[in-house]
Amino acid sequence: MSTTRVTTIAQPSPPAIIGSSPALQGVLAAASQLATSFVRVLITGETGVGKDLLARSIHCQSTRAHRRFVALNCAGLSETLLESELFGHVKGSFTGAYRDRVGCLEQAHHGTLFLDEIGEMSLRMQALLLRTLETGEIRPVGSDTAPIHVDVRVISATNRNLYEMIEQGKFREDLYYRINVAHLEVPPLRERAEDIKEIVNHLIAADGSALVLDDSVMRLFEKYRWPGNIRELQNVIGSLAGSVRGRPVMPEDLPRPILGHASRGPSFRERRRTVADELYEGLTSGRLRFWEDVYPAFNRRDLTRADLRLLIKRGLATSAGSYRRLLPVFRIDPQDYKRLLNFLAAHECVVDHRTFRAAGRPIDPAAFSSSVHPKAAAR
Ligand SMILES: Nc1ncnc2c1ncn2[C@@H]1O[C@H](COP(=O)(O)OP(=O)(O)OP(=O)(O)O)[C@@H](O)[C@H]1O
Ligand SMILES: [Mg+2]
Repeated sequence: MSTTRVTTIAQPSPPAIIGSSPALQGVLAAASQLATSFVRVLITGETGVGKDLLARSIHCQSTRAHRRFVALNCAGLSETLLESELFGHVKGSFTGAYRDRVGCLEQAHHGTLFLDEIGEMSLRMQALLLRTLETGEIRPVGSDTAPIHVDVRVISATNRNLYEMIEQGKFREDLYYRINVAHLEVPPLRERAEDIKEIVNHLIAADGSALVLDDSVMRLFEKYRWPGNIRELQNVIGSLAGSVRGRPVMPEDLPRPILGHASRGPSFRERRRTVADELYEGLTSGRLRFWEDVYPAFNRRDLTRADLRLLIKRGLATSAGSYRRLLPVFRIDPQDYKRLLNFLAAHECVVDHRTFRAAGRPIDPAAFSSSVHPKAAAR
């Protein structure tokens, strides 16, 4: 499997990211805003949600669009190989280095470097990357010449919880703040079930197949949890296109996990979900509304402050730190913006937006009477 994919985009057109749910649209709007700046972006989200796609989209909308987009997957590489992939090497610097090699950082000069699965980097590699991000300089492995200066915009992605890794001493906090100048969280497909139909239609059209799904199939799709997200949906549609011909797809044609979903009890994953997860999903799917459901539950003490903070934190991760953009995601009317801030401030549930912030759109800190560090909020 190739780890580096170098793409030079001559006529940049952002990749199609399908879905009109408020949850996805919030992320796309934040991404477009970030694209025009130089800030480093950290993209998080479960496997298959479209992190890679979003990184490419940011690059294509940026002023660097005519330069290279270089993608490097940091997982599954030995430290020596990863170091050489990133920084390059000179011939003979280690066994197997038969010729000089230009590293990804240098290949992406004036362009964008996408560091996928950054949570898999060893602590030593993290230290080397941090130094480059601080100085803008690289030195290929085995080189004794002066360091080379590079101008690279770094976008990183991970499906790991970097906060937890920092607390476990597995990820450097200083690097975290360097790569996470802005944070985008791509919501899982189950939290935007209204996108499924659109994505399915897009996949069928792109594939050129004449697949037709019975309505009952679409309903099962909308109930299923899609642990592999859009990639899993792609695989299911691809396999149905190969196996069902000349008639509509019926529930019996579906893989067992999707078919069995309606009749089975909650999965282990579901049992482990937090109250904040439940609320977030309810709000983003339109089943719940903030003032009608969350607010009374909090007043009844059915919800703790920690639940509420976690909910806000999840929302801010989706809206790149903007409380304003949180409003449509949480089904709150725009005129209730102040009311929301006052309510959160009164209960010490204002989450520091800076960890999730979108460049150039800081919220007015004076709007709050108190502020809670996201780390504390997560507890
Ligand atoms: N909203 C979307 N519309 C259309 N296609 C999508 C969308 N989101 C993801 N895809 C497609 O789904 C597949 C998985 O997306 P992608 O590789 O970007 O996910 P990822 O989050 O990077 O996954 P991983 O964590 O496994 O690396 C890709 O083929 C991508 O083109
Ligand atoms: Mg990816």
